[in-house]
Amino acid sequence: MSDKTDAAQEKLVALLKEGRSFPPSDEFRRQANVSDPEIYDRARQDPEGFWVEEAKRLDWFEGWNKVVEWNVPWVKWFIGGKLNATCNCVDRHVKTSRRTKPAILWEGEPGDQRVLTFEDLQKEVNRFANALKSLGVKKGDRVAIYLGMVPELAIAMLACAKVGAPHSIVFGGFSADSLRERINDAQAKVVITGDGAWRRGNVVPLKANVDEALTGTPSIEKVVVVERVGKVTQVDMQPGRDIWWHDLVANASDQCDAEPMDSEDILYILYTSGTTGKPKGVVHTTGGYLVGTTATHRMIFDIKEDDVYWCTADIGWVTGHSYIIYGPLANGCTTLMYEGSPDYPDRGRFWDIVQKYKVNIFYTAPTAIRAFMRWGTEWPAKYDLSSLRVIGSVGEPINPEAWIWYHQNIGRERCPIVDTWWQTETGMILISPLPGITATKPGSATQPFPGIEAEVLDDRGQPVGPGAGGYLVLTRPWPAMFRTIYGDPDRFVRTYWSRYPSKYFTGDGAKVDEDGYFWLLGRVDDVMNVAGHRISTYEVESALVDHPAVAEAAVIGKTHELKGQGIAGFVTLKEGIDPSDELKNELKQHVVKKIGPIARPDDIFFTAELPKTRSAKIMRRLLRDIAEGRVLGDTTTLADPAVTARLKRQYEEEG
Ligand code: WTA
Repeated sequence: MSDKTDAAQEKLVALLKEGRSFPPSDEFRRQANVSDPEIYDRARQDPEGFWVEEAKRLDWFEGWNKVVEWNVPWVKWFIGGKLNATCNCVDRHVKTSRRTKPAILWEGEPGDQRVLTFEDLQKEVNRFANALKSLGVKKGDRVAIYLGMVPELAIAMLACAKVGAPHSIVFGGFSADSLRERINDAQAKVVITGDGAWRRGNVVPLKANVDEALTGTPSIEKVVVVERVGKVTQVDMQPGRDIWWHDLVANASDQCDAEPMDSEDILYILYTSGTTGKPKGVVHTTGGYLVGTTATHRMIFDIKEDDVYWCTADIGWVTGHSYIIYGPLANGCTTLMYEGSPDYPDRGRFWDIVQKYKVNIFYTAPTAIRAFMRWGTEWPAKYDLSSLRVIGSVGEPINPEAWIWYHQNIGRERCPIVDTWWQTETGMILISPLPGITATKPGSATQPFPGIEAEVLDDRGQPVGPGAGGYLVLTRPWPAMFRTIYGDPDRFVRTYWSRYPSKYFTGDGAKVDEDGYFWLLGRVDDVMNVAGHRISTYEVESALVDHPAVAEAAVIGKTHELKGQGIAGFVTLKEGIDPSDELKNELKQHVVKKIGPIARPDDIFFTAELPKTRSAKIMRRLLRDIAEGRVLGDTTTLADPAVTARLKRQYEEEG
């Protein structure tokens, strides 16, 4: 190690030891959108009034007659109100000086660019909204979208919202099987896809995946295909079913009236992993969602009129829905979309984008930050990052080392870091600093947003004291909360509202320190967080046992230096099948085929038996101990403790 890195390392260790906190600078505080801590008291005393103030910033066709109604767990916000999300994100800005302001700055992975002003965006959205209507899409019909990060993805979402058709976006990294499952659950009528998507110079065959998915999707009537990669890929267009996007919009009018939506009409469905069973269709409605995402975006990222804002997430995840599209555009903010990966063509790509577009707000995930750390400070050091003002983190707990690295090398010790905790279900950020107020602590998401009440409880539902770990719950409704699981209200009640009466169970562990700061401790259920992606152990197990060689499988998330968690599978093979490295690879590939590349197991481990309780439940906790080389926890409930001891020995030998 060079002297320079030694010194940096020492400084880092010193900072962490100190348990230092980082208050906003006077300079930052002076210019911040929110700098008076009184906002917390105000929202606590009158939460409804607080959200009403925010709701008034949106355009409504008709006002609401009641702010909130909570018949636990069923909630409604802004009851009777009528609005349209796309009018708020696009049309209303066209009537102001924002007409010629960039709404979307888009950079393709190969380096091509597109700028859409609010006026351009309006025209594109209207054309596509009319195109959707021409395909028979009406208010309430579900539209599946399976695309890479191209402008048409944003246009398609906003067009769906304009005609009142809930979109269901499926991340382009999911397999044909996963896509089919989601299309069928939502009974989507149309799917919008691309010929392919660029990823590190390779093509993801989106259309071919759609063709495969559509072998078992009776509800789909039409497929719209965006031409993105062109000649490098072969696309089969099925006559009568498949239409090119450019042909469809060629003669479509750029005028389109918006469908007036009730506050509680569905804006979108987004599938996410749960502990058991198939993925859950998280339902978000229009009014409250837009109020919540708009308010949090403006306050947490301290958005100013001329800012360029960049969230690096994929729109296939909730972060992209709330904080690339709906929140930013409703605020009239310029939002940047980048198509590709951070290391293509080289490891400076993100910093090159920040420099080129003079990005002011940058929002990314800890897994990316850890990759940047590993790639070395020389990459960001080459670029001018002085435009940055606020930097954010989302998706998993950020380890203090990564926080400090981010602070020093990207924020250049100048930019407040907002570590934002939330979930697909919550729709909006719920725990986060307000950068003009909060003194941040590396590794803590700090405090609930104004109007949000969170608690940490023990098994019996009692609040744990400062410093003790427990389950994070939310005790009061917030506008952007999901309303149900699509088609499965019982599951909604069971999963989130049964553990503690009248409290929303997050599935996350947390502790609160003496200063009232929240520290997230990761999932307490069988959901893994792999590189910021939510994947359930159950889904990967199902994919493994789907393979003809596998008798039984148990999957765990294992601590991984870069990804937070990696996936480890313990597999018992059927009689007469021999373990081999080829079979390991085949099983990994099988999971990729069933779910998608994001769920590829890092390790597969063959074992004759799995540790089980006397009631035949697999004890994943012990498998985690084995995989992470810990002393085995309590084994008294096991049917046969010798199984675990043998497994541990075998694991260490093969290690
Ligand atoms: C985790 C992503 C710690 C958490 C927006 C949560 C976090 C799950 C943070 C939701 C954070 C998200 N600190 N953990 N700042 N942000 N998580 O639905 O476990 O993809 O339950 O939503 O990510 O993941 P989801």
